[in-house]
This record gives sequence, C-alpha cells and structure tokens, in this order.
Amino acid sequence: RDTGWWLSNLCQYQGFWLSSSHAILGLMLVQDHFMSKPTDIILATSPKCGTTWLRALIFATINRTSYDFATHPLLTNNPQALVPFLEGHIRVNDSTSFLESLPSPRFLSTHIPYSLFPDSMKTSGPKFVYVCRNPKDVLVSKWKFAEKMRPKEMPPLSLQDAFELFCNGVSHYGPFWDHVLSYWKASLETPETVLFLIYEDMKREPLVQVKRLAEFLGKPFSPEEEREGVVQEIVRLCSFKNLSTLEVNKSIISTEYFVQNPYFFRKGEVGDWENHLTPEMVARLDQITKEKLEGILCDKWKVR
Ligand code: A3P
Repeated sequence: RDTGWWLSNLCQYQGFWLSSSHAILGLMLVQDHFMSKPTDIILATSPKCGTTWLRALIFATINRTSYDFATHPLLTNNPQALVPFLEGHIRVNDSTSFLESLPSPRFLSTHIPYSLFPDSMKTSGPKFVYVCRNPKDVLVSKWKFAEKMRPKEMPPLSLQDAFELFCNGVSHYGPFWDHVLSYWKASLETPETVLFLIYEDMKREPLVQVKRLAEFLGKPFSPEEEREGVVQEIVRLCSFKNLSTLEVNKSIISTEYFVQNPYFFRKGEVGDWENHLTPEMVARLDQITKEKLEGILCDKWKVR
C-alpha cells in the first residue's frame, strides 16, 4: 500500500526509523562533528509531542529579562525560527560554523534519541529538556500532520495504515516508546542534566511546570517576578490560543524544512484520540505502551 509521505524515505538506522535523505545525514554530522558546550540547552522531542510549544516556552523563559511582552519576538516569529533545529542546521549549512557562531547559551532543538548522542557530548554538560506525550494523541497528531505534508499526487493515508505503522515503530524517529525510554532513563540517571516533561502535565498545570523548567535551567523566578505575574505572562504568550492566532503562525511560509508555519498548530488538546481511535486500536496501543514502558507513565495516559 502507498503510505505516502509517512513512509517515504524512511529506513532503520541505529535502531530508529529516520528519513534517509535528511535525518540520517544530520545525525551522522551531529555524532561526528557537533561540539556541545556546558551552557547549551537542548530541547529534545519525538515529533508531535509539543516541540513548538516548548521552543516558545524555553525561549521566553530564558530571555525573559531581554524583551518586553508587548514587543516580544514570539509575536512576529514562528518558534521554529527562533530555535535552530540541530540536525537540520548542521546538514543544511554543511558544517558546524553556523552553530558555533550562536551566542551562549545556545538553545537548540533535536529529535535525536538520547542513546544516539555520543558519550562525549552527554558528559560535556549540556542541559536536555525532553517533552513526551500520550502515544494515542501522538498517533492522531502525526496522522493529521502526514495528511498536510502529503504531496497532492499521493493517495491519502488511512488512519488504519498509520496505526499499523506506528504500532510497528515505523514513524519518524520511532519506535516512539524507545525514544521516550532513552530520555526517561537518562533523566533518572542524571537528573541535573536531563529534565523529563509531560505534555499532559504542562496542559494541566502550566505554571508549576514552567517554574520547574526555569529552576532546571538555572534561572528560577524571583519572588518579585512571581508577584509581577511574569510566569503567567510567559504561559499566556506561549499558549496554543495565542500562538496559533498570530499572523506569522497563520502565514504560509516555511521556516523549517518545507513545513509551513500553520502545520505546527492543529488543536493542541489532550485526548483528541477519543475522537478518532476505535476501541480495538486503543486496546492494542495500550498493550504496547504497557509492555514497552513497563508501566511507567501509564497512569498519566490512562493506559488500561
Ligand atoms: P495536535 O496535532 O494534537 O493539535 P510538535 O510541535 O512537536 O510538532 O507538536 C505539534 C502538536 O503540538 C500539535 O498537536 C499542535 O497543535 C500542538 N501544539 C502546538 N503549539 C502548542 C501550544 N502552544 N500549546 C499546546 N499544544 C501545542
């Protein structure tokens, strides 16, 4: 069956499914040439887990004393434009010079699983912020995204086909569960350098989670900032409601590798899977999640 954009170019490399034309080369260049710095902040995600949101939140948190909320760069720039995609930039610019030219602290985003980064990079001290999400919502979000990315001449991908591929681990940077586990284990082993966040927690209690984030990044909010409502301002600025309605994010421009700005925003909700997945799909996905994650995160995601 023609699975269109979802499967085009995907092949397994070092245990993960990556696009042969882009992601593998980017990964190899990162593994061989990227020199990390102790001040680096690296946002890591499996696609569709909240990369755009966390890009905005980390950018706003780190730079909160540099900008006024009324004229903030996030009002006129897509979050992708403000936070370089590590493996994308290293590939497109064909060298590390662009990344080396960025001022410290560098703030980068990646989809590379933790286990594929070289040890030399992990021990050099960059901080990793990982955000993961209920695989049932990730599947639906990926399927909807694949439909937008599908070239018109390709047939649509059915949810059933997307489901089969996802369950078999065949999706960009999949298997999804292995990606989550690589960062979960790292966050237990070195909690000072890997922060593990959960999309559902961020939605439920954004203020608490943004404060956690700021503390982890070594920039806790002062009592004065808290009194002045700075945390609330950051959460509001980066909310789905705000970002998705900004002109820049509604405009058909591609800031990141052919992905148009509006494609990064769809519903931004918890539990949209209930509108799409059949009971059989839910049962099978839950079973895989239970087995693969050995029970971790299952309560959060109501895995039965
Ligand atoms: P949905 O397709 O479920 O709506 P990524 O940025 O990793 O590609 O993830 C995209 C998902 O995050 C999409 O999920 C998108 O709508 C959602 N999203 C984007 N911005 C968000 C925000 N500010 N708050 C919450 N969710 C957001």
